[in-house]
Amino acid sequence: MLTDPQLAAIAESPYKADFPLLVQNPQIAFLDSAATAQRPAAVLDAQRTFYETMNANPLRGLYRLSVAATSAIEDARGRIARFIGAIDEKGEPQASQIVFTRNTSESLNLVANTLGRQVVLGEGDEVVISIMEHHSNLIPWQQLCRETGARLVYLRMDEDFRITQQEIDEKIGPKAKIVSVTHVSNVLGVENDVAAIARRAHEMGAYMVVDGAQSVPHIGVDVRELDCDLLAFSAHKLGGPMGIGVLWGKADVLDAMPPFLTGGEMIDSVTETDAVWAPVPQKFEAGTQDAAGSFATDAAIAYLESLGMEAVEGRERALATYLTDSLAALDFVDVIGPTDGSRHIGAVSFDVHGVHPHDVSSILDASDVCIRAGHHCAQPLLTELGYQSTCRASVAFYNDKADVDRLVEGLKMVWQVFNGR
Ligand code: ALA
Repeated sequence: MLTDPQLAAIAESPYKADFPLLVQNPQIAFLDSAATAQRPAAVLDAQRTFYETMNANPLRGLYRLSVAATSAIEDARGRIARFIGAIDEKGEPQASQIVFTRNTSESLNLVANTLGRQVVLGEGDEVVISIMEHHSNLIPWQQLCRETGARLVYLRMDEDFRITQQEIDEKIGPKAKIVSVTHVSNVLGVENDVAAIARRAHEMGAYMVVDGAQSVPHIGVDVRELDCDLLAFSAHKLGGPMGIGVLWGKADVLDAMPPFLTGGEMIDSVTETDAVWAPVPQKFEAGTQDAAGSFATDAAIAYLESLGMEAVEGRERALATYLTDSLAALDFVDVIGPTDGSRHIGAVSFDVHGVHPHDVSSILDASDVCIRAGHHCAQPLLTELGYQSTCRASVAFYNDKADVDRLVEGLKMVWQVFNGR
């Protein structure tokens, strides 16, 4: 339960004014930020600024425009590195550890198809994931295991939606070669103790990969604290453009990985029969890169930094608590996941008794309330929970109490439509 001052703090959103879509559509209660965030004006402006003032192929600089386009990418790497704690002992950001991809899925496919193939050799090897994985962090490993004969092992949750230390110790053994776990579940919103999982993975000699798609936008993520080897996330969930993904990796891990896609821009030299790869990160970035997207991602992170991630996290935890409590108070709704709302990082799944989630979502849409309904690309988790699909509302710092109240009113309407009372 929130205290009165906490409720007062989320009564209004000082941030909505920064988001053109929310300003132009004040009737919309946008509660689907786990799927994609809204973009602040600063990001939209950055995209336009790139094309108006520095548009050229980022070919690393034969003329000034091209130098500017290259800098747009390189500066973004530096800001991203600092944002996730990829800094050296002197506090300098490790820009070369930031690889641009199209999205989290591509980052994880890159890892499974490069590092995965190098270290998962066959029967007897194990890849450990959790039952909470989004398909992005499941299918690449499932495919790798099918092709190599390795075993895919699942970390499971206890009744309190936690992966316990006992489970970690039991499932991650000496046969584990790669452990790849989501930091925050996109369905339940719960945070996994990836630092504890990484510790065990390293004790067993395995690599630790983290899917940060649902954590990096919401909580201060520090790769040194997590001590993971690789971290994947997407720009569009933190207010940046669609089509930009990030893969961070420890320098020695990235250096040892072969390229994923090959072709232009990722080589040092080529002969008729061979090629020498460019150094990291260019080795992983074949073809013309989305420099405008990198520039806009830089702007998205600068915007979050101007708010401060502690403030973002604090406000979002309060909103998630209000959301969870409000849903739990409806006698025709079950919250799926912890009843302690502060354990939800953004996302809260729920079931409306006897009403299909797609119907719930469509009826809410008539009241301009946006939620996601379905299996959320996490079918094994839903099966484990005993559902085929759920409703999911997810908050970001730009939401306010009224958005959640609108959802509650909409759900009462849904219930009335189906039950006539
Ligand atoms: N991965 C996004 C979600 O969970 C699309 O909604």
